[in-house]
Amino acid sequence: MAQDYAVKDISLAEFGEKEIQIAEHEMPGLMATRREFGAAQPLKGARIAGSLHMTIQTAVLIRTLEALGATVRWASCNIFSTQDHAAAAIAASGTPVFAHKGETLEEYWDFADRLWEWEDGSLANMILDDGGDATMLILVGSQAETDPSILENPSNEEEEAFFNTIKKRLARDPGFYSRVKASIKGVTEETTTGVMRLYQRAKEGTLPFPAINVNDSVTKSKFDNKYGCKESLVDAIRRGTDVMMAGKVATVAGYGDVGKGSAASLRGAGCRVLVTEVDPICALQAAMDGYEVVTMEQAMPRSDIVVTATGNKDVLTADHMRNAKDMAIICNIGHFDNEIQVDALKNYKWTNIKDQVDMVHLSDDKRIILLSQGRLVNLGNATGHPSFVMSASFTNQTLAQIELWANNKDGKYKNDVYVLPKHLDEKVAALHLEHIGASLSKLTEEQAEYIGVPQNGPFKSDDYRY
Ligand code: NAI
Repeated sequence: MAQDYAVKDISLAEFGEKEIQIAEHEMPGLMATRREFGAAQPLKGARIAGSLHMTIQTAVLIRTLEALGATVRWASCNIFSTQDHAAAAIAASGTPVFAHKGETLEEYWDFADRLWEWEDGSLANMILDDGGDATMLILVGSQAETDPSILENPSNEEEEAFFNTIKKRLARDPGFYSRVKASIKGVTEETTTGVMRLYQRAKEGTLPFPAINVNDSVTKSKFDNKYGCKESLVDAIRRGTDVMMAGKVATVAGYGDVGKGSAASLRGAGCRVLVTEVDPICALQAAMDGYEVVTMEQAMPRSDIVVTATGNKDVLTADHMRNAKDMAIICNIGHFDNEIQVDALKNYKWTNIKDQVDMVHLSDDKRIILLSQGRLVNLGNATGHPSFVMSASFTNQTLAQIELWANNKDGKYKNDVYVLPKHLDEKVAALHLEHIGASLSKLTEEQAEYIGVPQNGPFKSDDYRY
């Protein structure tokens, strides 16, 4: 068999290992999970196909899954998000990983297609996904086995690369995706956008295995999406542009969890922040948090920086961008690049400034600075979220993998989308308190009875909103 990894430079492994050590110290949830479950090996026999940003933090997740008995194969879920030293460390210690920073679209999908088959010929039986691309590859691939016409007429370059990967595989092995599909016992999904895709499939009745929505664990979306972006957005803009943030006008599209963190990030750096929203509740929240709520048409001519954070498409259109200020910085922190109409900018002149920073010349007196070609700016221009917050997210991921692999007995999980139970969410939070010196108070028996909750939790009902 050909070398079972594809990384940029394997000699970066030692540097990767050093940073993994720093990250492990900041990831108490994952390390506690190793201690608690290591001996019992609950993931023994699990062959996990992982598609999630190949960063240092993800290296600690991979090692945790392996410590619990799993074997894994890994690819990144974004062409710009890989940290090459992290990928090298994982590959050098014997785990097949296919990822480097700055993949072509063709490489991206070919790497995703190398997730499924182990060296001994056995197939993946679990998916750990971020954004849903790995799951989509198997589901669309198996559909194409019976209806190849769905691979005709790709709508853009990205889809063309995706379809080509499927065609190449089916030419070699016509029943491949159906065999993988039949082998998969479940998927755990990291992010809002991937979860949206899973709920759509469940609604249509085309979800062939159970799924756990990791994103909607409170200790994921109310922490990673919010506090993670609060640290990583401004970091990305600074690394990309070195622009002075204080005093600038910055617009954030979307005031969900990511938007809240992003707006706070910009405000913390001294920007005056405008917010656009379609949901009146989130718009009111933004206004009462002290942001000016405007439309994109109003915001654009005033903004020095524009960030999309909606998970929706066409939020920043070519028309909007033509009304930008000269040298406005444009970026996206949502999962996919279709939030900004980058395709519509292709006909203008582009000047590459450095990796993941381009100047697009819209007219003689109007240029915009586009970061990461409209892809996730915090992972493209910086290193994503800090380890501590990813520890909470990835502890949820690990518990979700254990649920679907080891605890799906007597039909507990059907082909539907589930969230982890509240007591596990509270446990993930509890695992992160000591590290930051937080002391938890304890309910007396009488107090617990008075407010009607068990003395040791769960402390809230399932629909409490935090
Ligand atoms: P959310 O659903 O909490 O928030 C999105 C908000 O955008 C909603 O309030 C919605 O009303 C608003 N929105 C939708 N269309 C809009 C439009 N046309 N104009 C203005 N506002 C609009 O979702 P969340 O969790 O904030 O995630 C947003 C995106 O960020 C998703 O794609 C998610 O996968 C991604 N994400 C990225 C992370 C990163 O590190 N870069 C981390 C976590 C999530």
